[in-house]
Amino acid sequence: MVKRRKIIVGAWKAFLNQATAKKLADELKKWKANDSKKQDDYDIVLSPSFPYLVPVQDAIKETNIALCAQDVDAVKMGPYTGHIPPPILVDVGCKYVLLGHSELRHLKEYSPRRIHEKVTAALGADLHVILCIGETKDEKVADKTKSVLKEQLETALVNLDEKIIRGKFDVAYEPVWAISSQNPDKPPKAEDVNNIHGFIREILNKKLDKKTADTVRILYGGSVNEDNVCDYLNQPNVDGVLVGSASTKHPQFVNLLNAVEERVLIPAQ
Ligand code: PGA
Repeated sequence: MVKRRKIIVGAWKAFLNQATAKKLADELKKWKANDSKKQDDYDIVLSPSFPYLVPVQDAIKETNIALCAQDVDAVKMGPYTGHIPPPILVDVGCKYVLLGHSELRHLKEYSPRRIHEKVTAALGADLHVILCIGETKDEKVADKTKSVLKEQLETALVNLDEKIIRGKFDVAYEPVWAISSQNPDKPPKAEDVNNIHGFIREILNKKLDKKTADTVRILYGGSVNEDNVCDYLNQPNVDGVLVGSASTKHPQFVNLLNAVEERVLIPAQ
């Protein structure tokens, strides 16, 4: 079985202001220095709002916590008022970018095609892309989950050179109905997530050469918290989690990280 390095993303959405974002980053830095037992054995990634990328990067710069933007525009540097091209993200220290989050697909009406352009631009600037895909409640009820995921993923990958993707591209499965702000009755069972991840892996194996497909991690996102994180991460097809609301509070996020370090098998790297 292929071993992939686990990844935990704190997706802060638009929950925090400068003071609270910086405070949380400082707490994580302190936890890393004093309490983390696994140190460099898995990836921790923080995704603050654009204006706080720099202060958060300042707070985490002596740690191996990585910085991630929440979106990017598929434009070069130049006369594009209000846009954020990939080189600007790289310049402020971003290693990762989230693309295709449902809150952007739906609120800003980003089409799969538009997301493909963003993925291409981000990879071209050497950013590590985390592509979010997921079905809505209506699509789930209409039994369209697999066709929706297939379309979102395949469109994102069109015409991309495998060498550019290799080691620089992860997928986050985020059923829209399971995101905490949607007040889900219940998030999906870990076994169901595992099965869907198996389906996503099949698409990756069909679309990419094995060497490249094996580098792609598949994360789960949707109401992950300190109580359920280990159930998800202990599934064989789950390589990571994307945590929204529960990553924006202290000490909840640290509790979640401690739970992972204690109860998830994380091989020493
Ligand atoms: P949540 O958000 O953890 O608050 O459900 C997840 C997401 O939107 O990616």
